[in-house]
Amino acid sequence: MYVLGIETSCDETGVAIYHSKRGLCNHLLYSQIEMHSEYGGVVPELASRDHIRKLVPLIKQSLQESQLSSADINGIAYTAGPGLMGALLVGAATARSLAWSWQIPAVAVHHMEGHLLAPMLEAPPPAFPFVALLISGGHTLLVQVDGIGHYRLLGESLDDAAGEAFDKTAKMLGLGYPGGPKLSKLAENGRPVFQFPRPMTDRPGLDFSFSGLKTYTMNTLNGSQKTEQDKADIAMAFQNAVADTLSIKCRRALKQTGLKRLVVAGGVSANKHIRACLTEMAGRENAAIYFPRPEFCTDNGAMIAYAGCQRLLAGQQQELEIFARPRWPISELSGL
Ligand code: KG4
Ligand code: ZN
Repeated sequence: MYVLGIETSCDETGVAIYHSKRGLCNHLLYSQIEMHSEYGGVVPELASRDHIRKLVPLIKQSLQESQLSSADINGIAYTAGPGLMGALLVGAATARSLAWSWQIPAVAVHHMEGHLLAPMLEAPPPAFPFVALLISGGHTLLVQVDGIGHYRLLGESLDDAAGEAFDKTAKMLGLGYPGGPKLSKLAENGRPVFQFPRPMTDRPGLDFSFSGLKTYTMNTLNGSQKTEQDKADIAMAFQNAVADTLSIKCRRALKQTGLKRLVVAGGVSANKHIRACLTEMAGRENAAIYFPRPEFCTDNGAMIAYAGCQRLLAGQQQELEIFARPRWPISELSGL
């Protein structure tokens, strides 16, 4: 079964073709970063308009590069949420219309399920059950995954998501958008002179909070000379604090569930220091750890094609409806 995957929930237009047996045939990504960077963040209306411009040409290109025609495609998977409503609607309406005209099923995919399943595109893929840490720009979730669609929420951020904390802190440090990768680059020149708090690790539970850390960072910055070296030191201290906090909570989640497999996905999982810190912790806990390749940590069409393919294989699809949900708790998903 060939599945066309479409991702348009935020600022990347992602398209991919996944075959249920042969694996990933092709994936293409158009990033809107340059356009939004002028404004210091994503402008939703501009995002939607750009998806309209880029999506259909990308689908054509993906078919061409895979040496397939529309007649070869057996199903379409599109991100239906969570995300920006206008941006989601571009993908949903395009997917639905193509499915209608090609007379094939379409399935609405939950963006965070896409992230969660992205490590399945790597070898070896993680076996169920496992603990998943999902760290993106909009969400920070710890989930027990018993199978596709069987998600038990263990913890989440009570305020800013991890990626959002990176982006806001980067802005404070005078770095552009998106802040995560830029802050991480700056942190490479940092010296270990500051020790930032590890929020909510001194009490039981698996929830996160990153807004206090942001304020702490702001106060430290204001109390410094704001030299380039100060900023690099602060970036390093911030990144260390986030990495440590995530690591402490994941260790707790592994202990609490008794599971020995940890999946880490979402944009922030591209962060080298966080990957190293979590890998070290998993090693100490005798647990196996799985990440997507760096380009599949951030938004992409491949993870949507994969997730949709699994649901289509299980016979799931939606009626003729343009389905888009800007807010959509992952725990509401049905299992396979
Ligand atoms: O998963 P994603 O592409 O989009 C959402 O679903 O939100 O995640 C984007 C987030 C942004 O906040 C971005 O700054 C962060 O992931 N990010 C990083 C890195 N690469 C992307 N944060 C820290 N270090 C990175 N290397
Ligand atoms: Zn994402």
